[in-house]
Amino acid sequence: MNLKKMVAESAVKYIQDGMVVGLGSGTTAHWFIKKLGQMVKDGLEIKAGATSVESEVLAKELEIPIVSFEEIDHIDVTVDGADEVDPGLNLIKGGGGALLREKIVATESRELIIIVDESKLVKQLGKFPLPVEVIPFALSITQQKVEELGCKAGIRVDQENGRFKTNNGNVILDCEFEKISNPEELTQKLNMIPGVVENGLFINLAKKVLVGYKNGNLEILGRSGE
Ligand code: 5RP
Repeated sequence: MNLKKMVAESAVKYIQDGMVVGLGSGTTAHWFIKKLGQMVKDGLEIKAGATSVESEVLAKELEIPIVSFEEIDHIDVTVDGADEVDPGLNLIKGGGGALLREKIVATESRELIIIVDESKLVKQLGKFPLPVEVIPFALSITQQKVEELGCKAGIRVDQENGRFKTNNGNVILDCEFEKISNPEELTQKLNMIPGVVENGLFINLAKKVLVGYKNGNLEILGRSGE
């Protein structure tokens, strides 16, 4: 069973006519965009904004009406994947390198719905190396400052093209913390370092997390009190 496809397709029930939809990035979001494309073909009327060039190209192929974020004054709902989800629905994102655009869009969305398979659920964030987007200028200085926060920060490499380059022309440091005991504090400390553009900790942003299990079950996790 393709869990990513199953959970992604279940998320389309949150999309209604007239909505402005944020499209996430990665292999799970890919399935969501494909399903949305089918629904648009069947008459669903939405506008969508994409969090990466890859998602935008796919959406355009499927004839989903794409708008630039300059053209809209709100985003109703964004559906995106994640690399780790903790019990408080805090996330690590950026495995695909789209964390900066994803965080801008997630922060602006009235609702952020995360779609994952069960392998992404963790008790504590940090096993997955935390992606941190940094500008290429004086990279080794920024890398050293990031490592002073208690991690090994490796420069992401793209097998085909050498150093990985984000859609914004930046570099990703994959930071091995192993355990992140205080994500709020870490996100602030990282973003205070000159040269760091954004990090992949998404704190208090996800409203719902849809989880697909190997036995075929689907679970909807909600933020407590909402
Ligand atoms: C891209 C992301 C993705 O949502 C995250 O890496 C999960 O990807 P996938 O759905 O392929 O497992 O944050 O920057």
